Amino acid sequence: MSKAKYTVTAALPYANGPLHLGHVAGVYLPADIFVRFLRMNKHDVAFICGSDEHGAAITLRAKKEGITPQEIVDKYNSIISKAFTDFDISFDIFHRTSSEIHHKTSQDFFLKLYEKGKFTEETSEQYYDEEYEQFLADRYITGECPKCQNPSAYGDQCEKCGSDLSPTELINPTSTLSGKTPVLRTTSHWYLPMANHEDWLREWIKEGKLDGIQQHDPKPWRNQVIGQCMSWIDGGLHSRAMTRDLDWGVKVPLPNAEGKVLYVWLDAPIGYISATKQYALDNNKNWEDYWTGDRKLIHFIGKDNIVFHAVIFPILLKDHGDLILPDNVPAYEFLNLEGDKFSTSRNWAVWLHEYLAAYPGREDELKYVLTSIAPETKDSEFTWKEYQTRINSELADILGNFVNRALVLTQKYYEGKVPEKGELTEEDQLVLAEINEIPKRISKLVYAYKLRDAQAEAMNLARLGNKYLADQEPWKVVKIDPKRVETVMNIALQITANLSIVLQPFLPATAAKLSNFLNFKSSNWEDAGNGDLMKVGNQTNLPEILFQKIEDTLVEEEVKKLKNIELMESKFDVQKDEVTFDDFTKMDIRLGTILEAEKVEKADKLLKLLVDTGLDKRTIVSGIAEHYSPEEIIGKTVQVLMNLAPRKIKGIESKGMILMAEDAEGKLSFMSPEKGFEAGCGIH
Ligand code: MF3
Ligand code: ZN
Repeated sequence: MSKAKYTVTAALPYANGPLHLGHVAGVYLPADIFVRFLRMNKHDVAFICGSDEHGAAITLRAKKEGITPQEIVDKYNSIISKAFTDFDISFDIFHRTSSEIHHKTSQDFFLKLYEKGKFTEETSEQYYDEEYEQFLADRYITGECPKCQNPSAYGDQCEKCGSDLSPTELINPTSTLSGKTPVLRTTSHWYLPMANHEDWLREWIKEGKLDGIQQHDPKPWRNQVIGQCMSWIDGGLHSRAMTRDLDWGVKVPLPNAEGKVLYVWLDAPIGYISATKQYALDNNKNWEDYWTGDRKLIHFIGKDNIVFHAVIFPILLKDHGDLILPDNVPAYEFLNLEGDKFSTSRNWAVWLHEYLAAYPGREDELKYVLTSIAPETKDSEFTWKEYQTRINSELADILGNFVNRALVLTQKYYEGKVPEKGELTEEDQLVLAEINEIPKRISKLVYAYKLRDAQAEAMNLARLGNKYLADQEPWKVVKIDPKRVETVMNIALQITANLSIVLQPFLPATAAKLSNFLNFKSSNWEDAGNGDLMKVGNQTNLPEILFQKIEDTLVEEEVKKLKNIELMESKFDVQKDEVTFDDFTKMDIRLGTILEAEKVEKADKLLKLLVDTGLDKRTIVSGIAEHYSPEEIIGKTVQVLMNLAPRKIKGIESKGMILMAEDAEGKLSFMSPEKGFEAGCGIH
């Protein structure tokens, strides 16, 4: 049987910010492992990526940094591609959607569908910023989410509750350009009708059948992927606009389409095709070979990209007609960081380029940790503590220790030359059988996209070696039965040689070091499993230490850096969730003077206060009776939260709240103005 051919893509990162470990763990690293494995197994494979340089997110970022969109994408494309190179992600090409070949490819794609009558032209009312004289892309509109009341939802999505939104659903929409309320104006766009695609999509996603013919692997896709797609399809597939009123992007290639560009989620996945074209041009190949015929198209993505890759892009590909649909869409869940979501705006992130600059030569350590905790089936978490533990007690203590022993003892006993195997004991036979089995198990796991388990299985080989040496104790036996030790060391070296193969997809730099120590190199997966890779008499070298242990200080420093503050032991509560400035200004806080105070019956804690707020005299019930007597506080000027929704407390309507400082023991104190400010003054 001929080997399956693959086109493997990794989601094109937006060129509007650097990459953090969440991106790496949930897209680029697994894709790289998968591809390295395929190459070792002699599959014909192209590994495609590039930066996604269009869309309103880019223009917004440009506005924020006060530079042009082109400058933004140039800046981040270079940061991102350098980080990929330094981290040794082995793309065959890392391309850009701002390139000419991409613009041409996506325009041709659009035109082909247009000419086949796959789009409908529809006129609708969309928000327009009168001050800036432009239609507003969804991302340019914020407002209150109708589902969860998050006050800063975007026109396309609420990031708090995850709902897909359309701008007109937002309550109190605001233009992020002018800060004003936008108006509705008529505009027309080309839409992709999707409703008539529901039936084939269902069958294709669940069973891989297209027009009754098996198209993708009948092994089920990841449950989350199927689940998300099905619930999306079950909700009814509505037409989606494939063009936007924006001046940054791929121009709509039709007359009378001034000021319109392709929707970024139309042009970005076509970026996989245009990148393949460039790759083919550079390497004397035909790009069509990668997008037609008997080839598996695999998209590695994060879970927020699922419907675009498993529903919308497949519809576009099917409408196009000449190209293959994905065979699998391995989507990853999210990686969290030290107990919280990665957040660019709060700088709650470990940036890949910063890690690489701070710890050159420790790429494999990071790869190992990220694969160990990869969010394959559910969200997972990166902590520096775990980073330390995994490196110290797994990489250093198991893998590093084993390799070191095997090679140092070989030097010591045989001047580095591979000794001969003698008669095999039962243990030897078992170990050799395991050497043979482990690569097969890894293989199965990788083909099933279970890279986390696959890496663990590769580490099991090191574990096996470590245990074998510990059990056989060659350093003792050598004194009584030196012949026996030759066998043991031969087998230990066979394990090391096998490690230099099976670790290659996961820890390429480490595997290369092993090859140097051994003077043995194979990148052919078929060689793995063989207990005779190291030939008797071959010379090996004295090893260097493979992994330096991670000190506690590194963990402390990194955590401190993340929190961007001097950490103190604190008896106080941790900081609450972030609010926006808008959230804050919603609160009306003023000075008020307490005119009257009395105890509330049958309530030990409550005082009923009459407060002069400068606007009115109002009743506020306050839980301060254990701290203040009525007499003490009459005449005090205090801070009042005015617009807290009125509440009935013990039958008394309370309109507002007195603000207090509270110490760690729960003692309360007023915050009165230092100067003689009067009731009614605002606090901002
Ligand atoms: N830029 C998108 C993101 O980061 C991913 C685009 S993937 C592509 O979420 F297929 F559209 F290119
Ligand atoms: Zn919401």
